[in-house]
Formats: sequence, structure tokens, C-alpha cells
Amino acid sequence: MLPVAVSAAPGLVRDGLRCLEARRMAVIVNVNGHITDGQSAVVPVLDHGFLYGEGIYEVIRTYERRLFLFDRHVARLRRSAEMIELPVPFTDAGLYSRIRETIEVLDRERDRGGWGPETYVRVLLTRGAGEISYNPSFCRTPTLVVIVKPLVPQPSEVYGDGVRVVLVPIVRNHPGSVNPLIKSNNLLNNALAAQHALREGAFEAVMRNYRGELSECSLSNLFVVRDGAALTPPIDAGLLAGITRGFLFEVGEAVGVRVLETTLRDEDLLGADEAFLTGTTLEIIPIVHVDDRTIGSGRPGPVTRKLLQQFRSMAHERSRGV
Ligand SMILES: Cc1ncc(COP(=O)(O)O)c(C=O)c1O
Repeated sequence: MLPVAVSAAPGLVRDGLRCLEARRMAVIVNVNGHITDGQSAVVPVLDHGFLYGEGIYEVIRTYERRLFLFDRHVARLRRSAEMIELPVPFTDAGLYSRIRETIEVLDRERDRGGWGPETYVRVLLTRGAGEISYNPSFCRTPTLVVIVKPLVPQPSEVYGDGVRVVLVPIVRNHPGSVNPLIKSNNLLNNALAAQHALREGAFEAVMRNYRGELSECSLSNLFVVRDGAALTPPIDAGLLAGITRGFLFEVGEAVGVRVLETTLRDEDLLGADEAFLTGTTLEIIPIVHVDDRTIGSGRPGPVTRKLLQQFRSMAHERSRGV
């Protein structure tokens, strides 16, 4: 049996990819309906998720204690499942209740630990346990895991000062291989890119696709700002259709910033007026350096700041049902 979550993070790790604090982190895990703390949660080693990385996942966060854009996350989970022919053994409402009951257990810990009100939710669905064989018919029941923990926001300097990213030599998966559209538990491509960035002391790793065009980062989507418009690579550049990326089109519309898909190359990023990353837990993070080059003025630009402010206000309003 394999522990699926670790509940303590020694020391302060501020690598940009994660900000883990020295305080003991409360992690609650729900494995097929069985709720335990992170240390005790187990899945069988014969689960094809463990053996072969055959599984998919979603990361959702709360605003105002409500699951943000839940419907879009479940829809993407279902699309990912379809792309690996994995049956989804729950309704949307069933998954919602499974997450809520797990968060309720976390809420009992939350106040004791002095954590903030918001929650990080990771939903994993794997092929389930079966014979050591690629034949999926050996796996009768998919494994559904829900991991919840208090959401630790990025430090405010990340938004106030911006971050440095690096262009890495790791090529983003070819869409004809493990298609980046699948939010797959098989994250080796992402992990290798992220590890490269960590070695270089950078916040994120920007990957190119097999054609040499910019695609996305290890755990976020990429945008550049040119002539007042926010530009992001199209889906066929081979990337995850980020929920935050998708929401940004609505944010841009609300605030009068054009958001467009277009092919981007290194020079578009290096010569951009502004650039930023998007992701569920990151929101919108300004990029001010790429490798040893400064982007724009070297400070978070006006378009990025406007989008971030609008994004946050729309996220809170939607969650309050305004
Ligand atoms: C490779 C990759 N791209 C983009 C994103 C951002 O997606 P979202 O906005 O849905 O969090 C993620 C999030 O984990 C990711 O792993």
C-alpha cells in the first residue's frame, strides 16, 4: 500500500512552483469514499494509476469557500477521461458532494491550524487495481481520490514584483503522443521541465512544442501582451486548455482588453510589452524576466495588473453569486 499524500512539509520551500510552509499542513484525503488524513491514505500498488500513470486529475480552488468554476473543471475531467477511455463512475452532483464532505472534515482542522478559509482540491481518477497488464479490462473499478488542503496563496511579492521564468529545452508532449489536452496524472514531461526551472532558480519553465513554437509552462498557461492585447498560443500548439486561460477571455472582455489566440515564438515573449502566467491556484502572475532578459519595464505592466484585478473581482463575485 502506498501513501498518496504527505501532510508535513519541513522547512520553507519557496520555489515558485509551490510555497510550502513550515507549519504542519492539514491534508485530508478521500479514497473511494473513505476519508483519512494525508499520512494514512493509501491506494493499492496494483492500481494502474501507480503502475502506468493511467489516470487523470483536476485542481480546483475555492473562493469565498465555494468551488470556483466547478462545472468547467468537471467537464474537462470528463473530456480527459474520454481521451484515455476511462469510465467516469459518478455524476457531477456526486463528485460535488464527495468534495464537499471531504472539505467539511478539513474545516474541523482548519481553525485549529489557523489556516485561511480557502481550499485547494485535487481530484484524481485512475484506472483502478488489476493484473500487471496494459489490458484495461483487468481493472473493474476506477479509483477516485479527492485530496483537500488549505490553499496557501503565493506571496504578495509574486504579484507585486513579478517573477522570472526560463525557456527550457524539454519539449512539450507532441499532441499525437500523450496529448497535453489530457490532464493526465502522467506528469513526467511537466516534472522534468519544472525541475529544470528549479535548478535555474526560476519560478516557472516555459516549454516549446515540437515545431519550436511556445506552448505552455509546467503548471500554467502563458500569455504575452503586445499593443494592449493579451496573446496566448492556440490549443493546437499542444497545451492544456487551462480553465483560468479560458476564463481570461471573459475577464478581458469585461475590462476592455482583447484576448486572442496566436502562434507565439521566443522573440514574441522576449520582445513583449508584458507577459504573464495563468493557473487555478496562481491566478495571474506577471513575468518580468525570461532567462537573463528583462520583459518590458521589468515591472508588472498595466494590462497584466488590470486583468488580475478584474479576474479577482469576477472570481469573488461569481462565488458570492453576485
Ligand atoms: C500543464 C498545465 N498547463 C496549464 C495549467 C493551468 O490550468 P488551470 O487554469 O486549469 O489551472 C496547468 C494546471 O495545472 C497545467 O498543469
